[in-house]
Amino acid sequence: MRFVTKNIEELSSDTLICFIFEDDDEKSELFKYLDNLSNGQLSEQIFDYKSITGKFQETFKFSINKNIKVLIEGLGKKSEFTRQKYSQCVANAARIAKTMTKNKTIGIEIIEHCCQNANFNQEDIAQITVSGARIGLYQFDKYIKDKNKVETLELLNLNNNLEIEKGTEKGAFVSFAMKFAKDLVNESAQIATPLYIANLAEEIAKEHKLEAKIYNKHQIKELNMNAFLAVGQGSVNEPMFIHLTYKPNNTPRKKIALIGKGITFDAGGMNIKPATSMLTMKSDMTGAASVLGIIQAIAKLQPDVEVHVISALCENMTSGSAYKQGDILTAMNGKTIEVDNTDAEGRITLADALCYADKLNVDEVIDIATLTGAVIVALGNNITGIMGNNQNQINNFKEISEKYCENVWQMPIIDELKDNLKSEIADFKNTGGRNAGTSTAAWFLSNFTKSKAWMHLDIAGTAYLEKSNKETLSGPTGVMIRSLINYILS
Ligand code: BES
Ligand code: MN
Ligand code: ZN
Repeated sequence: MRFVTKNIEELSSDTLICFIFEDDDEKSELFKYLDNLSNGQLSEQIFDYKSITGKFQETFKFSINKNIKVLIEGLGKKSEFTRQKYSQCVANAARIAKTMTKNKTIGIEIIEHCCQNANFNQEDIAQITVSGARIGLYQFDKYIKDKNKVETLELLNLNNNLEIEKGTEKGAFVSFAMKFAKDLVNESAQIATPLYIANLAEEIAKEHKLEAKIYNKHQIKELNMNAFLAVGQGSVNEPMFIHLTYKPNNTPRKKIALIGKGITFDAGGMNIKPATSMLTMKSDMTGAASVLGIIQAIAKLQPDVEVHVISALCENMTSGSAYKQGDILTAMNGKTIEVDNTDAEGRITLADALCYADKLNVDEVIDIATLTGAVIVALGNNITGIMGNNQNQINNFKEISEKYCENVWQMPIIDELKDNLKSEIADFKNTGGRNAGTSTAAWFLSNFTKSKAWMHLDIAGTAYLEKSNKETLSGPTGVMIRSLINYILS
């Protein structure tokens, strides 16, 4: 999909999106233009007939003539306006406009007068408009005949504002990363095996001139990642470990390692999951898909930041060769893990990935993982759990995530959690009871990193929706990709 900025006269879209507030009569330039085209019928509909009053996500369709249709969407009350609400409105409007356009081109305005309200600058509003629209237009159509694709999104840039150009470009790269990750999550686990994803990583590295280190089962063994290996040993699809690096031309301002959980299917292992819980477990590699999307955007945006992306890829299956309860595993750093439950496999694979990241000499380590069902109980499907060992890093990330329309909530990691994982025969067990499941998992992870700024994002509730929310339809969400890219750029 193309994203272009245009002036009003240059628009070629047959469907145009306009926004209005519930409690503000000031109308945008595009609105005035279209009202004029319709000889005042548009404002008559709104002011006289109250066909739309501007309530949050309220919509009204109007045909000006055979060639131009308008979709008006309400942004709600100006006083209650936020960036996130804006993004949700853009996504919703784009999704509806997609069903209206015949020439596969949608135009959307960037309203100046909402900027003051949501602490917007022109660049951010453009970025958020593009990412929001792309979220609304997303569909995984590889396996369906009815491909209703919008080819071009035209953003109105009335004064040829450079900030809007910059934001549009950023938004396009962020959107590409999200689409990439969502497509990979949607793909069958039959196809998206560890080897498939490793090959994909290699292609990405070639295309973007990134350093690539790809390890097969044999080489993973040589690295002493025996905890990770154990998780994958029950599957005919062998594990792979990937590490891509983006290096800026100049000396990097900071160095960040991103680790994505990469379980290409989580059947639970010998502690097999019930059918309903297993249903969406092809999405257990969302972390891996996300970091692979992110590094492509980073390679395009060329920040002066060194970025490593890492994933330990494997399947968690039941079979004669599967790892078992009671097994004692030794991670790369020599720490031992008693397997209490084979379904708590993510933390075992991440343990070795974190040890690997320790050797890279980076300033920050961030992992993103569909790690615990407990985070869904605690925070639901629209808030990502954030934990770590450096409050500054967490605070900075929280600020960025709010700016780029995503919700995070911090959960604690404290020493007391240690008791939950006490083992008599190893350094720790991998699970312990139902209580404080998300924090306990994070405490477990904290034992495998030496980084002074390590942060963990538990996206088990937010990565894959069973029910649509105000922004995204059911299925993969691409959660935290917007925040992570902007965090790296910050
Ligand atoms: N991949 C799951 C976590 C998950 C659950 C992701 C629901 C997305 C939606 C993880 O590997 C897992 O199975 N965790 C167990 C841990 C338990 C055995 C301590 C869980 O949360 O039930
Ligand atoms: Mn599991
Ligand atoms: Zn899992």
